[in-house]
Amino acid sequence: MIETVSTTPYQDQKPGTSGLRKKVPVFAQPNYAENFIQSVFDCLSGFEGKTLVIGGDGRYYNDVVIQKAIRMAAANGFGRVLVGQNGILSTPAASHIIRKYEAFGGIILSASHNPGGPEEDFGIKYNASNGGPAPEHLTDAIFERTKTIETYKTVQAPDIDLSKTGNYDTAGMAVEVIDPVSDYAALMETLFDFDAIRDLFASGFSITFDAMSAVTGPYATEIIERRLGAPAGTVLNGTPLPDFGHHHPDPNLVHARHLYDAVMGANPPDFAAASDGDGDRNLILGAGIFVTPSDSVAMLAANAHLAPGYAKGLAGIARSMPTSGAADRVAGKLGIGIFETPTGWKFFGNLLDAGKVTICGEESAGTGSDHVREKDGLWAVLLWLNILAARREPLKQIVEKHWAEYGRNYYSRHDYEAIDTGIANGLMDGLREKLPGLAGTEVNGMKIETADDFTYHDPVDGSTSSHQGVRILFEGGSRIVYRLSGTGTSGATLRVYIERYEPDPALHGIDTQEALADLIAAADEIAQIAKLTGRDAPTVIT
Ligand code: G1P
Ligand code: ZN
Repeated sequence: MIETVSTTPYQDQKPGTSGLRKKVPVFAQPNYAENFIQSVFDCLSGFEGKTLVIGGDGRYYNDVVIQKAIRMAAANGFGRVLVGQNGILSTPAASHIIRKYEAFGGIILSASHNPGGPEEDFGIKYNASNGGPAPEHLTDAIFERTKTIETYKTVQAPDIDLSKTGNYDTAGMAVEVIDPVSDYAALMETLFDFDAIRDLFASGFSITFDAMSAVTGPYATEIIERRLGAPAGTVLNGTPLPDFGHHHPDPNLVHARHLYDAVMGANPPDFAAASDGDGDRNLILGAGIFVTPSDSVAMLAANAHLAPGYAKGLAGIARSMPTSGAADRVAGKLGIGIFETPTGWKFFGNLLDAGKVTICGEESAGTGSDHVREKDGLWAVLLWLNILAARREPLKQIVEKHWAEYGRNYYSRHDYEAIDTGIANGLMDGLREKLPGLAGTEVNGMKIETADDFTYHDPVDGSTSSHQGVRILFEGGSRIVYRLSGTGTSGATLRVYIERYEPDPALHGIDTQEALADLIAAADEIAQIAKLTGRDAPTVIT
């Protein structure tokens, strides 16, 4: 029954910030997906007879790889596969399913917010039994394995019909096609005051949620429209499509511009939100206001006690290093721990498992808590709705009161996409060489206090992750951070993160790019971005 198939290794299967991401034509090469999946299995032990969760964001090629993964799971000795109906499982829902059913782990097929389609992006990620992304030592081992793999195991078996829930069998291994939404929706009901949110909606509060033709459609429709009673039509683009309707399912101010325009226009909705391809990111807007992700994690932490699931308070907060320091001020006031980790959700896993933190966030529109081990877009939306239902104040007012109390961290990220990899690496190397001489010097009239390349020491397992981003800290708390993206699929993306702290409420109403203008100029001067890349402006500003 079990076939051992000969294969030749590929040398480019290095998992990035969140799993292996490549264009579909790369994944469609002979044995490409098989090699990676087998390499994952080869780096695990003790899964015989155990459960594997499989699901994805519904993008093009999901269906093909899901069937391969099921057959390979059977051949490798898993006892059971749980797979979402139609192959659908949002990333946070997959994390929850792994935890709830005490699975050995899960394979999530997604390229997050990247476009989908025959020429677009695809991805495979392995999550461990805690429901979180594989830790770095495991992804490193998987990469090493991919370079030498010679065979993979599969079975001869027909495809599973994923269109109907039910119990099936692949070469003796049980396969359950499960409803992707119900367990997740039930979890949300335990965390949030659904009655209060229902009352808020019934009072005439208006909301719009854009699922961007990606995975959150079925989840948002069930929770926001059916369980919370928002009017039908509240969820836009609610059917997951393999190519996301040719859109870029990234809930930022570029790709979800229409929501921004709506809240800034005449007759704005009280609240507008969106999520990304695989449902782990969020965009939060209210009448007249965009809540930056860095502010959002701080404000959610400051108000979380208003939701039943967090009424007892928070153990601590974690944020990725490039995320603004707004959350640090909340942690300080609450007298709880604050942790600064490298970019990527996997670094939060140990802190969450150890009970050191309850809420985590990244500047890249990722927010989440210890309810799962992934960031969770709908969770953030529902926590905001719970806070709005409890406070009954406009979102804009809540944000402005927060700034008045804690000060405002002006913050922006400038991305230079698809630059030549050699040039990008050269720019970063050049920066690193300059680091030792930067402290004490002045750039654009501002004095640099310290400059370094961020190294993280995991307080739980003692591991060290170095080269996690160049940080330039100025006197007064302003900051510039440079790093290269680990999720792109064409060329390199340079991310420049710029932050300035402003305690004075009289100065909280400035346009962000204006408030940061001196630092933006300094960022170019220090790294010579325009000169080295030939770009006079970033591709995306968030
Ligand atoms: C990006 C974000 C990062 C996030 C990751 C996965 O990674 O910056 O915060 O965890 O996507 O969603 P990057 O491309 O910067 O490596
Ligand atoms: Zn995502």
